[in-house]
Amino acid sequence: MLSKSAARAFFIGGTLLTGVAFAALTVHTHQTVPEQSNEANLTPAVERGHGIWTDENCMGCHTLLGEGAYYAPELTKVVERRGKLWIKTFIKDPEAMFPGRRRMVKYDFTDAQIDDLIAFLEWVGNIDANGFPADPPYAPAPQAVIVGGRSLDNAPEVFKSLCTACHMVGGKGGNVGPPLDDISARYDAASLDAWLVDPQAIKPGTAMPKLPLTPEHRKAISTFLLETR
Ligand code: HEC
Ligand code: HEC
Repeated sequence: MLSKSAARAFFIGGTLLTGVAFAALTVHTHQTVPEQSNEANLTPAVERGHGIWTDENCMGCHTLLGEGAYYAPELTKVVERRGKLWIKTFIKDPEAMFPGRRRMVKYDFTDAQIDDLIAFLEWVGNIDANGFPADPPYAPAPQAVIVGGRSLDNAPEVFKSLCTACHMVGGKGGNVGPPLDDISARYDAASLDAWLVDPQAIKPGTAMPKLPLTPEHRKAISTFLLETR
């Protein structure tokens, strides 16, 4: 049994100790929050993007930093995961990236509004959330026929950000369209270019979307797919 004075000493000592720990942690939090919250990069574009995010109720379907509805993908790291060009193409026309099974709303945003939204999502992605969200357990990649040793490492940026969402090269990439390793067996520079300009014109009803590619993009892609190995 504790004596009355020992109990009092325990109470006062314990209270002081936890009080000091609490104060120290509070100071530490206040010191690290500005850095973790990435507030230095809160540009006007980020704020406008946030405005669109709330006005259009994106949280009605998506989560950001874990907050929101669980109908659609978590978007905290979406810029890192998908890249800006992919997101821009997708928001303009979600159906393009998910042929025939689109569930995301098609908004009629202007280019400037989409840029603001992406600035906002990029800012959120740079918040230090102590490792959230954890990497999802990726499904094993589907097996592809690899011909000619072409590797994604040599692919131009535009190919990595747009085409790999649906196509594989060297066994890496999406599984929506066919692997593109051996495309030179069926296409030359002219026919590949025509296909990339407007797939619908070549094959009406095809699930390959018409993508916003500049002539420089198409040249780089065709050099990669037909020549570089
Ligand atoms: C009605 C529900 C709904 C609303 C509202 C919605 N989305 Fe989506 N979103 C989806 C679904 C579902 C997907 C998954 C792709 C698909 O099926 O179309 C998606 C996918 C996305 C993706 C791609 C994510 C990835 O990793 O592939 C982005 C970026 C995105 N949405 C942004 C937004 C933004 C920004 C808003 C608000 C302006 C918004 N969404 C509002 C349903 C919604
Ligand atoms: C949203 C998914 C999607 C994206 C993004 C996409 N494609 Fe496709 N692509 C397809 C599908 C689906 C087909 C098969 C079309 C068909 O046969 O009707 C296809 C077919 C092709 C073909 C013809 C393949 C063959 O064997 O005849 C080429 C070449 C091609 N895509 C190149 C590209 C390039 C280069 C990009 C990036 C600029 C790209 N695709 C982006 C879905 C996509």
